Amino acid sequence: MDINAGDRPLGAEVRGLDLSRGIDDGTFAALKALFDRNGMIYLRGQSLAPEQLVAFTARFGKPDRHVRQEFALPGHPEIHLISNVKENERSIGSAYAGDDWHTDLCFMQHPARYTFLHAIEVPMKDGRVLGDTHFASTAHAYDALDAETRGWLDRQRGVFQYHRAQERKRAQRAKDHARPPLTAAQKAATPDLSHDAVITHPETGRRCIYVNRTYTFSFEGLSEEDSAPLLRRLHEHVTREEAVYVHRWQAGDLVMWDNYSTQHMAVGDYALPLRRLMHRTAICGTEAFGAKLLPQS
Ligand SMILES: [Fe+2]
Repeated sequence: MDINAGDRPLGAEVRGLDLSRGIDDGTFAALKALFDRNGMIYLRGQSLAPEQLVAFTARFGKPDRHVRQEFALPGHPEIHLISNVKENERSIGSAYAGDDWHTDLCFMQHPARYTFLHAIEVPMKDGRVLGDTHFASTAHAYDALDAETRGWLDRQRGVFQYHRAQERKRAQRAKDHARPPLTAAQKAATPDLSHDAVITHPETGRRCIYVNRTYTFSFEGLSEEDSAPLLRRLHEHVTREEAVYVHRWQAGDLVMWDNYSTQHMAVGDYALPLRRLMHRTAICGTEAFGAKLLPQS
């Protein structure tokens, strides 16, 4: 296993591994250590059958079953399809998922730990791949704050609201990729809640900013109006250009990120007939980050 660390706080390429042939425990331990340290790593040229992807994912913990099971790969409830492809006029997966900065499943009481994205089809136009994904290290961003801001942020809690984010997304994408509204059961599984605004990474001990632009609507105890400029400044800090790694996809990529220490954003600069299809798996988190249910909106 050979590592190309790149020039950003995260985004190391791991070369020389074929995950379809399996890796031994020593190699896995080295990969996991690199992953915890870096937050986002990737391997090119992989070809993983659905059960191989799930089996590799399961070495990191308990695979998650996404709340939107209508977008699961048939027969594989742990694989969530990220795709703009339609069959019979219906999207087969989450279309244009995550097109603003966020961490996955941060709105759950136990947010997702790791996410794995395996590229099956990538959109190409004029020889260039579209649909880049941007990544930022929230551990690096926290360390780069001034001491006064760190001290203030350490005492804050963020308000996370999944339904509102979904409704906003439904309105934005209503024309080309209508998403069904959440069912009563999906809504009940994703109540409004608050988390600590800064969390401690269980492996590295580093402090990581946990509020994000998609799902955090305010700081607890502050109005949305008063929170907005504070959140905006933080988001701009986390995602400043020199700290961001931009992943340009190739079919066969396996990209993996740690939702405790990173944020990401998918660029939706492609449309049918250009097809994008990704298989996504995630690992359930074990930390609650002080999760507290709020009066429901
Ligand atoms: Fe995401």
